[in-house]
Amino acid sequence: MPESALTAPNPRLFSFRAGAEGAWRIRAITPVRGDTLPPADRLDLISGEAGPAGEGDGLGAWTLRGVTSNERYVTNDEKRKLAAAQEGLGREAATCAALIPIKKSAAWWGLTQEQRRAVFEEQSRHTHIGLHYLPAIARRLHHCRDLATAEPFDFLTWFEFRPEDEPAFDRLLAELRKTPEWAHVERETDIRLIRG
Ligand code: HEM
Repeated sequence: MPESALTAPNPRLFSFRAGAEGAWRIRAITPVRGDTLPPADRLDLISGEAGPAGEGDGLGAWTLRGVTSNERYVTNDEKRKLAAAQEGLGREAATCAALIPIKKSAAWWGLTQEQRRAVFEEQSRHTHIGLHYLPAIARRLHHCRDLATAEPFDFLTWFEFRPEDEPAFDRLLAELRKTPEWAHVERETDIRLIRG
């Protein structure tokens, strides 16, 4: 195997860098559970490694990293329904976004795959609930646990929607936060953004 194949960057890695610059303006950072994140003016969503914070990044600068991955919990039928209803990121009219980093409990990670699926869908109806909000809400899930570095969150969830769909997004969050799945969430921060 050529050496470059051993050192090639992971194309599924994304960095969320908060600081003085970036395509998204941070409108609010709301602590939901556990420690919050420092305030910052703007956020950049970078494909790949963001590199260390520079001089111009401002005092509050922080970077979170995660990788997109294969699905863990969806059935074939759910996957089909999601594919039929969802739209991708980057829609012109979707000028609002939310970055919600989440850390789940050690007890959650101690469950088997089957037990986690039971909490996630049979008990909490996560996919079932979420499907009602498509295609208005576009989403991308990033996993953080299997990176080479210890990360403060397990997931970085990213959503894009039109300003008029923000009330629906808030209802979706309220529904999910009442579920048994959320009893396993021990850290959550709700960051709202506007493009431009
Ligand atoms: C817009 C509607 C939504 C849909 C259709 C949806 C759908 C899904 C699906 C299908 C998965 C499982 C992927 C897999 O099989 O591994 C998932 C995972 C997840 N979603 Fe959602 N979701 C939605 C909204 C949300 C919201 C608002 C949050 C709150 C921040 C959220 C947080 C998560 C988290 C943290 C996971 C990872 C769970 C785990 O692996 O333990 N989702 N979502």
